Amino acid sequence: MAEILPLDEALQPALALLAAGEVVALPTETVYGLAGDATNGEAVARIFEVKGRPRFNPLIVHVSSLDMARKIGVFDDASLKLAETFWPGPLTLVLKLRDGHAIHPLVTTGLDTVALRMPRGFASAVIAASDRPLAAPSANSSGRISGTTAEAVNEDLGAKIRLIADGGPTPVGLESTIVKVGPEGVRILRPGGVASEEIEATLGMKVLRGGAAGIEAPGMLASHYAPDAAMRLDAAEVRSGEALLAFGPARIAGAERALAVLNLSEAGDLREAAANLYHHMKALDRTGAGVIAVEPVPATGLGEAIRDRLGRAAAPRDG
Ligand code: TXA
Ligand code: MG
Repeated sequence: MAEILPLDEALQPALALLAAGEVVALPTETVYGLAGDATNGEAVARIFEVKGRPRFNPLIVHVSSLDMARKIGVFDDASLKLAETFWPGPLTLVLKLRDGHAIHPLVTTGLDTVALRMPRGFASAVIAASDRPLAAPSANSSGRISGTTAEAVNEDLGAKIRLIADGGPTPVGLESTIVKVGPEGVRILRPGGVASEEIEATLGMKVLRGGAAGIEAPGMLASHYAPDAAMRLDAAEVRSGEALLAFGPARIAGAERALAVLNLSEAGDLREAAANLYHHMKALDRTGAGVIAVEPVPATGLGEAIRDRLGRAAAPRDG
């Protein structure tokens, strides 16, 4: 069973476990990560094993400084501007791997690119103290909803890991935005905690969206973030037997029939909605409702990432 420790008590044990090639669950500002030394193949293999993750899905490498990042990836001008603007923060940059980098090939699953991110807070402190980049996917079983609290991580993975560093609920609440700069422009491979509009404003240009032909974001499997209940998006009314995931001050027709109602943000604030998304999806799933009806959420700002995750949770799945 995992030991759950507050951050001030978790630092030393986390460093010791990571140095021994073990994995540790720790908070970032987006979601909890399942972290291992990105230069140690056994630690990386252990991450895949604990998550039950398909081997073709590469991991994000987390750094604590731009210097550390530059030893791993090659920065073009636009990527550097984005790093300077949004790091530390919920932005991941896909860059060409630099010759002589120390990242284990299992992390990138053989690609010649690497996804890099500088997180805020405890995760950065751990990386700086160990002076090693950490590979860390979201701390959840493959295909399940990402953990945004130590309790959620414990429920999903607690039996398989030794330590969960408990930093409380993560402030952003959904994963980082993944950006790749290429010859055709700046592409958002996964919408996330930094809104596309903020990236466009920083670079003074429009961004492209979605994976280019095929493999750009191999992890973007359609059915992801799956609750047990089916999800019905942009619902105009609540049908009998449904739970309701609400957004904003006004309710859709039939809301009084819902088995349970949770509101992402009474005020209609997209940042608050992002922070509540996974918690509320899980809580409504636990009511045992067969279907979760979801009120419309606008597609602007963080709404783009919220709608992306809701769409994946609603996608058809096999078992
Ligand atoms: O906020 C986050 O990004 C969290 C926290 C823990 O940092 N991490 C996270 O990691 O969401 P994960 O492993 O669940 O998602 C990583 C995504 C996957 O979709 C993967 O396919 C993509 O990043 N990725 C990794 N390396 C890539 C690369 N070289 N090219 C394109 N996509 C890549
Ligand atoms: Mg994930």
